[in-house]
Amino acid sequence: MEPLIQLRNLEKVVEAGPNKFFLLRRINLDIQAGEFVTIMGPSGAGNSTLLNIVGMLDGAWTGDYYFLGEPVHKLNVKKRNELHKANIGFVFQSYHLIDNLTVFENLEVPNLHSAQGDEIMQLFKRLNEAGTTIIQVTHSERNASYGSRIIQLKDGWVVGDNATAGAPVGAAQPA
Ligand SMILES: Nc1ncnc2c1ncn2[C@@H]1O[C@H](COP(=O)(O)OP(=O)(O)O)[C@@H](O)[C@H]1O
Ligand SMILES: [Mg+2]
Repeated sequence: MEPLIQLRNLEKVVEAGPNKFFLLRRINLDIQAGEFVTIMGPSGAGNSTLLNIVGMLDGAWTGDYYFLGEPVHKLNVKKRNELHKANIGFVFQSYHLIDNLTVFENLEVPNLHSAQGDEIMQLFKRLNEAGTTIIQVTHSERNASYGSRIIQLKDGWVVGDNATAGAPVGAAQPA
């Protein structure tokens, strides 16, 4: 099947005076629909930068990005925003989920708190089991273990791409 997300030689560079600083370097990745992927790397590795690009919040990069075969690298901002709106939800860190909204509404509200960590991870797991592709950025091995694959970043490079062992021991089972 055609991958949901294909990145080919994707790079993001910022210029500081005469110097170029690569935030992302030669990123080649395929993510299939229905995967639960974790992006993990030390602070400053480019984790958020990559998530923002894949999430179509950032258009300032080079290389090729195909979303279900659609060349995102060729889209203007308006078209890219349309593709984002139709396909992508963001859940931001340090926001609380609002109880009286549905999960899907919550996904649209920039609203995660560590105390709710496992609860949120169970929610992502259920969404994923229902067919939603999940891409998370976390420093937590425990959170990462809910997913099936860990992509490791370092200094803007992909330095690892491995399957996870499985759900954490002792984690609450979905209701
Ligand atoms: N627009 C920008 N201009 C210059 N430096 C940036 C910009 N955005 C991010 N950075 C720097 O690039 C690195 C990667 O940023 P980021 O992806 O946010 O890191 P993290 O992996 O911690 O999420 C960091 O060192 C950050 O300070
Ligand atoms: Mg970050």
